[in-house]
Amino acid sequence: MNLFDVYPINNIAIVKARGSYVWDDKGEQYLDLYGGHAVISIGHTHPHWVQRIEEQLKKIAFYSNSIKIPLQQELATKLGQLSGKEDYQLFLCNSGAEANENALKLASFYNGRKKVVSFTKSFHGRTSLAVSVTDNKNYIAPVNETGNVIFLPFNDGQALEDCFAKNGKEISSVIIEGIQGVGGINVAEDSFLKKIRSLCDEYGAVYIADSVQCGYGRTGKFFSHDFAGVKADIYSMAKGMGNGFPVAGIIIAPHIKPRQFQLGTTFGGNHLACAAALAVLEVLESEKLLGNAVMVGKYLKEELKSIPELKNVRGRGLMIGFDVPEALKDLKKNLLLNQKIFTGEAKPNVIRLLPSLALKKRDAEDFIEAIKEEIAAMAVQEA
Ligand SMILES: Cc1ncc(COP(=O)(O)O)c(C=O)c1O
Repeated sequence: MNLFDVYPINNIAIVKARGSYVWDDKGEQYLDLYGGHAVISIGHTHPHWVQRIEEQLKKIAFYSNSIKIPLQQELATKLGQLSGKEDYQLFLCNSGAEANENALKLASFYNGRKKVVSFTKSFHGRTSLAVSVTDNKNYIAPVNETGNVIFLPFNDGQALEDCFAKNGKEISSVIIEGIQGVGGINVAEDSFLKKIRSLCDEYGAVYIADSVQCGYGRTGKFFSHDFAGVKADIYSMAKGMGNGFPVAGIIIAPHIKPRQFQLGTTFGGNHLACAAALAVLEVLESEKLLGNAVMVGKYLKEELKSIPELKNVRGRGLMIGFDVPEALKDLKKNLLLNQKIFTGEAKPNVIRLLPSLALKKRDAEDFIEAIKEEIAAMAVQEA
């Protein structure tokens, strides 16, 4: 049997990982500034995370949601404390798409409406409803097409106001990433998020903060929406939540009340997933990783801004993007092949940095040196 060939992959087999480093099957070491797509939050194979999972595995790995799983409440309590959303309610699932799927569905159950507002360049996942609010026609199969989604320009307050003035009573929810990831590290303006909050309040719509990529401390605040000083009605979370163990969830504001059987999942919230997620929160707290993300992120941004070839350096904390000119289109590839550094990208010309929140300043310095070296080498080739 062959694999279903849907991923354009690098020809590298990673067999070992630790902190911000990974090693391939030939023993070559790489600095990981991509974090397996923003997933590695506390560092690869963090000893506390490994220990928590190992200990849990020896006790019980899985049982369904038909019994009490005290670890779920432990996780909810810790998440409430660290995110400052202690009065919210936690529903656990398995992936970012599933989290958004449940968020959108719950919003519709809540207000009985069908329309969803989403934004240009958004990415919310591949499942049916999540993909229908994703701004990429290539991902939307005919069966996912729905007339219920309104796409508006990102950060355009006037367009949002006009849309609510016209359709306000039909709009169930507004879904927005605090910083667009796949779309190329586009930061939602604080004033725009405030406007979403006030229009949702005025018209009875639900504000869904997709925090799958930009959440869980990556920006230096627990949710990037916190920068705007607003509270969303539902936050979706995934990637960094398990540091590579598949676990995701939504947290739901207290005014949205649950009803039995309204949402559900077989695997979501299992014992092993909760142990992994608790380990992540414990390390985020004990190692003060949100502060580290701010400090190392600031250093990286300042240094990148001083490199004249790189344009429009942007982002928050350790979610950073910059534009690469056509002459340097091979920069990402060369960083990997020549400097052994993984970075992320966003089409057509953005390099994305999504490292572990435990990235050391020393590693950031090595990266800056490496990128300058590669740019210089490419300039020589050009000449
Ligand atoms: C903002 C955002 N939402 C949702 C998703 C989907 O998450 P998953 O791939 O875990 O389904 C992603 C994945 O990249 C994402 O970046």
